[in-house]
Amino acid sequence: MEHPPKIYLAPFQGITGATYRVVYARHFEGVDKLFTPFFTGIHKDSKLPARKQAELGNTFENGVEVIPQILSKDADEIILFSRFCEKLGFKEINWNLGCPYPQVANKKRGSGMLPFPEIVDEILNKVMAETAIRFTVKCRLGYFSPLEIFSLIPIFNRHKIDELTIHARIGKQLYSGEPDQKNFQNAISQLTVPVVYNGDIFSLSDYNRLRNQYPAINAWMIGRGILADPFLPAIIKCTHIGSDNQAHIRRFIDDLYFAYRKHTNDKLSSLGILKEYWHYLAESFNDPHQVFKKVKKVSRFEEYEDAVSFVFREFEWVGSGIKQNSSDG
Ligand SMILES: Cc1cc2nc3c(=O)[nH]c(=O)nc-3n(C[C@H](O)[C@H](O)[C@H](O)COP(=O)(O)O)c2cc1C
Repeated sequence: MEHPPKIYLAPFQGITGATYRVVYARHFEGVDKLFTPFFTGIHKDSKLPARKQAELGNTFENGVEVIPQILSKDADEIILFSRFCEKLGFKEINWNLGCPYPQVANKKRGSGMLPFPEIVDEILNKVMAETAIRFTVKCRLGYFSPLEIFSLIPIFNRHKIDELTIHARIGKQLYSGEPDQKNFQNAISQLTVPVVYNGDIFSLSDYNRLRNQYPAINAWMIGRGILADPFLPAIIKCTHIGSDNQAHIRRFIDDLYFAYRKHTNDKLSSLGILKEYWHYLAESFNDPHQVFKKVKKVSRFEEYEDAVSFVFREFEWVGSGIKQNSSDG
């Protein structure tokens, strides 16, 4: 019998922080792992600062495992982070080899390390010997070229990392263009560690197409698709039975609003976080442009509350269904 797929919520700097994870997991089902945005600046000889520890949040969120992520090119820093996480009860950490932004990549961090397999090897040599909890990696196919991964595959295989998530783009691309299915396919045929697919799953039909293309893959990391339609994991697992999705989303977004206000001690910066999230969520309404325009211009709490009421009164939640129908044919 086919195993049910595993669905992971991708890490998003600025969005999938502790507050979002608590509220998301309270309202939606179907996700098997929740990834934190990447952590940096873990210093020797110090305890994990209270703010960082608070951002790590709970080890499980409503029964869903939380996976802390680190962005670093320093083996000792990664080992220190894994020890902090282990002490807090986490069972896995994830190493970010995917961040594409030039200010990160130019310093050989994130996807900027992918052209340097010898550095990756050296770091894994130290880290794999010293880390007691599961160690997984998230990467792209390369930074300059999608062929860079082929020099890394023997290294990942040899070190037996616990899982490799591949976002099937290169760093230089940022988020443009399409995921490169040909090189992803070639890569998985050479990998002996468990692989997770990541990139551009926005609907059930996207998922079905990729699942047919990669029958050997059973774990899927989804970012923007879940931010836009939080029901997507349950839709994929055929466990979504909600009757009034619009009312459900309203309860979720209100809960998120109050959680961010509490988290920021009622600072207006909570509106900035919410607007960033609405950039994705608006995609699941019948007029994404108008919905986002309405929320984007608010600068006070009352304005935000009015804008959200207006959106739920005047627009319709369509979820990922429209894209699903249009490409199902
Ligand atoms: C604003 C933003 C922030 C992100 N932050 C992170 C991060 O902290 N760590 C990480 O590994 N990937 C990060 N990503 C990449 C996503 O996790 C994911 O790999 C990417 O969006 C592709 O998946 P998707 O097509 O399902 O969205 C970020 C992407 C965006 C757009």
